[in-house]
Amino acid sequence: QRATVLLHPDFRVGAVDRRLFGSFVEHLGRAVYTGIYEPDHTTADEHGFRRDVADLTHELGVSMVRYPGGNFVSNYNWEDGVGPVEDRKPFIDLAWRTIEPNTIGTDEFLQWAEREGIEPMMAVNLGTRGVAAAAALVEYVNGEAGSKWADLRIANGREKPYGVTLWCLGNEMDGPWQIGHKDAHEYGKLAAEAGKAMKLVDPSIELVACGSSSMYMDTFGEWEQTVLSYTYDIVDHISMHAYYEELNGDRASFLGSATAMDRFIRRVVSSADAVGARKRSDKAITISFDEWNVWYLESRFPGEANLPLQKDAPRIIEDVYSGLDAVVVGDLMNTLLNHADRVPVACLAQLVNVIAPIMTEPGGEAWKQPTFFPFAQAARTARGTALDLRVDAPVFTTKRHGDVPTVTAAATWDETDGSLALFLTNRTAEPVDVTISHLGASIVLTAGLEVTADNEPAVAGPEHAAKIAEKHVRVIDAPAVRVEADGSTVVTLAPESWT
Ligand code: AHR
Repeated sequence: QRATVLLHPDFRVGAVDRRLFGSFVEHLGRAVYTGIYEPDHTTADEHGFRRDVADLTHELGVSMVRYPGGNFVSNYNWEDGVGPVEDRKPFIDLAWRTIEPNTIGTDEFLQWAEREGIEPMMAVNLGTRGVAAAAALVEYVNGEAGSKWADLRIANGREKPYGVTLWCLGNEMDGPWQIGHKDAHEYGKLAAEAGKAMKLVDPSIELVACGSSSMYMDTFGEWEQTVLSYTYDIVDHISMHAYYEELNGDRASFLGSATAMDRFIRRVVSSADAVGARKRSDKAITISFDEWNVWYLESRFPGEANLPLQKDAPRIIEDVYSGLDAVVVGDLMNTLLNHADRVPVACLAQLVNVIAPIMTEPGGEAWKQPTFFPFAQAARTARGTALDLRVDAPVFTTKRHGDVPTVTAAATWDETDGSLALFLTNRTAEPVDVTISHLGASIVLTAGLEVTADNEPAVAGPEHAAKIAEKHVRVIDAPAVRVEADGSTVVTLAPESWT
């Protein structure tokens, strides 16, 4: 099989925002407790946070972390999680039916992020709380001394404002599972008022309105248009969430997931622009794709309603990933890069233990799932400007997404040092020769990483993850490509691979 990729450094999509390589830590299962935080662990720092997890977070290349939810935020009283830890009371988190001990709260998380040099992204509760609590939290986090909530932060031991820029106005408020779920009119009005108050406290912040929880929600489209009709002038971004999985053995559709993501992004951009057109606005709303990943949600997760009440950081949603999942994650990353002009923010959901690239054992080791590798490679090498490629590849037909291309590509160009990063996915079971025509530029391919799919059943634990990494993640170098007489470069992509 053959495909062609045409690129030129002057054909551009837009600058790659570093916030595209974000992740997410929710108070859910073992993401916080025995994930980033475990005071008794041998690698714990003086604040009780695991050094091994922080080191892997850096190796993953995560630029930003969203916190504290997710569904959790919609019944969270942030005031209960600040101040002396011994005075904090545990409560029942209704989203995940877990006793939340409140040991880690806003200050502990923000100080961890600061020490690690990671930008935090905060979410406010618009499920069970409202305008006043949201504005108070912005004041607590970003306010200068001399007002009630900023002074409380100072009394709690933190003088300097944290300066958090990115704020989510609630989470998945379109979802009936959300505590305090609302219809689009109710949510749109509340988000506009909360956002207005939050920006009056700190005009420098950026706000994210909740978009749809997935493209398959009945209210998708209508929701975006209604919510933005209330919030267009006050918010900067609209959120997107999408999880993909292999359902009923339909491997072809799963391998085509990034095409569904691409269509989802185009539809949200169109919906936002339609509102902008009606408002005669010159402002463009951008996308915060603040939850994306492979998640075996339908096939393996029993659903929030059926969860028993648990305590002590239970093992919830600890998906075990395969080489195939890693290929799809890489392909999803290609799609995000191809929309760099409208998607400046994205979060791989989540960071540790919960549908995560990093896993831990309490008191034990931390390790990388197969999905770690494509994300880390993209975060390390994709920089500068995303290029507008022309990809010519045959299509194949899938049950879920119709026709999808056999090969996808994304590329970035860093003009400061002339480095090009090219990402290619082969979604077929045959090798594909990809001819790269690089008009106006001569390229020397130096090194790369190839991730291939497997057919092995996923087994939990570090040994299996290491076995997959050994068999399915391969560093490739220059001899793996051919330069043709006309100067174009040919790369042979392995079956079902992300390179
Ligand atoms: O990331 C897990 C959950 O997925 C989040 O809490 C929620 O926002 C989404 O449904």
